[in-house]
Amino acid sequence: MRLSDCHNFHDFRTLAKRRLPGPIFNYIDGAADDEVTYRRNAESFEHCDLVPNILRGVQSVDMSVTVLGQKLATPFYCSPTALQRLFHHDGERAVAAAASKLGTMFGVSSLGTVSMEELRKTYETPQCYQFYFHKDRGLNRAMMQRAKESGINVMMLTVDSITGGNRERDLRTGFSIPFRLTLGGMTQFALKPMWGINFVTHEKFKLPQLDAHIDMGGDTMSIGRYFTEMLDPSMTWDDVAEMVKLWNGQFCLKGVMSVEDAKRAASIGCSGIVLSNHGGRQLDGSRAAFDQLAEVVDAVGDRLDVIIDGGIQRGTHILKALSLGAKAVGIGRAYLYPLAAAGQPGVERALGLLRTEVERGMKLMGVSSLDQLSRNNLRFR
Ligand SMILES: Cc1cc2nc3c(=O)[nH]c(=O)nc-3n(C[C@H](O)[C@H](O)[C@H](O)COP(=O)(O)O)c2cc1C
Repeated sequence: MRLSDCHNFHDFRTLAKRRLPGPIFNYIDGAADDEVTYRRNAESFEHCDLVPNILRGVQSVDMSVTVLGQKLATPFYCSPTALQRLFHHDGERAVAAAASKLGTMFGVSSLGTVSMEELRKTYETPQCYQFYFHKDRGLNRAMMQRAKESGINVMMLTVDSITGGNRERDLRTGFSIPFRLTLGGMTQFALKPMWGINFVTHEKFKLPQLDAHIDMGGDTMSIGRYFTEMLDPSMTWDDVAEMVKLWNGQFCLKGVMSVEDAKRAASIGCSGIVLSNHGGRQLDGSRAAFDQLAEVVDAVGDRLDVIIDGGIQRGTHILKALSLGAKAVGIGRAYLYPLAAAGQPGVERALGLLRTEVERGMKLMGVSSLDQLSRNNLRFR
């Protein structure tokens, strides 16, 4: 199987599985507990059907959206994800380059493996920085200052990870940073020697967003310990309100689910919220963002941008979300499998296919711009 054989999400997933050592593939592919929410995320889009209009003159369509103050050429962007250089040796560079070519936004994770400054300097396209809130308030201020100085367009605070999700696939393989592989996990690495060769012959693995502030070197701080020791589970709305003021720019909360919280986010001045369950990786049993979308848009859609992520695999999923009132959608695994499968060309191909699906879907729906989509275009079963 080659990249040219990949025509959809599932093909990229299959190719990624062939390329990656099992523990790394399962880190991407897995989710929390019984992975119920993970499965529901994708299924949620099948609870409703699109109702197209015809004969509307759709020879050219405009796929652009303006969200969080950024003009994006497509209604989807690459949501921030951790540790990308484990998936392919080019990591965030490959994703940023592909997003930039397409004209959409990408996110840099706090656990990213390339520095936000390098990415900001190299690529023109809008960039958001995914932030975790630390116990040390001075550290939070220093990190925000650094993001401001580097020219980050959107601050995205993840609020669904107040404690780590229970990822049982990782427990079985021993996936953690640093690696603490089980014997089974080690064997799976041995079966994919090319990955190991690429890993050791390229730049040393680092976490540059954190390295400048926290000693992550060697065994002194694992990511697990970073979460339990450095991040602040006592974070409240007052802390976020202060951050919003301090950032004084586009500020988005990632991981909001309830109407009550969406209203609160609007009242403290957030410019947007991402309805998200972290790709099913945190609270298993929580609702899919798509299922929660309509009521949140009804409550706050006129006060901030409502975005969703989770389970998006097709252009038609994006059209359904926009019909319900989302301003844009984030994708995660839909670009991570392509990254693992083939680096930058893989991500370019995946994003290009998704764009083509959105374009085709718009034409078949009879809309020439995305703001023409409405709830009239959807029926729930
Ligand atoms: C491997 C992996 C790593 C992730 N790392 C982060 C992260 O560091 N910060 C964050 O806010 N979300 C992270 N996410 C969640 C994504 O940003 C996004 O919410 C989720 O992947 C969307 O679901 P999808 O994968 O079904 O598209 C991660 C997701 C995956 C699959």
